[in-house]
Amino acid sequence: MQPKIIVHGGAWKIAEETHADHIGGTHVAAEAAWDILARGGTALDAVEKAISMMENDPTFDAGVGSVLNRTGSIEMDAIIMDGKTLAIGAVAAVRGITNPVQLARHIMQDTDHSLLVGEGARRFAELRGMRLCAEAELTVEREIIRFKRLQQKPDYHLLDEFAPTPIEPDPQGTVGAVAIDAAGNIAASTSTGGAAYKLPGRVGDSPLVGSGAYADNTTGGASATGHGESIMRVVLCKTATDAIAHGKTAQEAADYAVKVMFERTGGYGGIIVVDHQGEAAFAYNTPHMAVAWSDDAGNIHARIKS
Ligand code: GLY
Repeated sequence: MQPKIIVHGGAWKIAEETHADHIGGTHVAAEAAWDILARGGTALDAVEKAISMMENDPTFDAGVGSVLNRTGSIEMDAIIMDGKTLAIGAVAAVRGITNPVQLARHIMQDTDHSLLVGEGARRFAELRGMRLCAEAELTVEREIIRFKRLQQKPDYHLLDEFAPTPIEPDPQGTVGAVAIDAAGNIAASTSTGGAAYKLPGRVGDSPLVGSGAYADNTTGGASATGHGESIMRVVLCKTATDAIAHGKTAQEAADYAVKVMFERTGGYGGIIVVDHQGEAAFAYNTPHMAVAWSDDAGNIHARIKS
């Protein structure tokens, strides 16, 4: 099986002056994941690596650079899924760690649980020897400025952030990765700081299996980005992989899932897909989507699609 990696760095209106950072950040993440796959490594290791790198990159709304909630805190969501076993590890509303995807992987592999939230998730991170960090380490100036701006907008609505002409300019993007390895195993992962100015305790689509990500070796894998409350209502990633099961190509499945979301909820977002034959695709109904993928020669292509 020819391995494949596709990653995303969010789908919304990406400000022109940040295009280079998005292209650079998704490119190096896809490249690092490809290096793992090309050496015969697993899809799980590849997606964890790609997501960790984007969590460490302040360009994106995940890990360092996450958006602030309504009390000025950072609460992060992440998921990783193994398409071979359908095992899931996920965290929601976790605070004070740098790499939620790595905690999600520990949950998947070292416990018989699937999803840990809040303080329990953070305590488990400590138990696993992960480094805890102060919130200041995750907080960037851009998000402090956004937070102060949103405090002046009492009517701000979460959906505004994901509209084609967002009221809040230049929202940052959730990150995601889907891979298939040489053994034909598929993995998918998604990580996010969620929606800017969300209520404390709000959990989006990202850590919810089938919504923020899904992986099944018999069909394909997918990772979503965009308005979480819309994505979860149509279980976007499972909708795409089910469409593959019903005979659609990866591209048709991605297009179909986004179309269903918009028709049924009016929501905006995007999705990346890899099917069980190694075909990669993406679709979005936002002004832009940041994506990077490997071709059959192992070259990485990174784009801001509009
Ligand atoms: N899609 C990310 C979120 O809504 O939290």
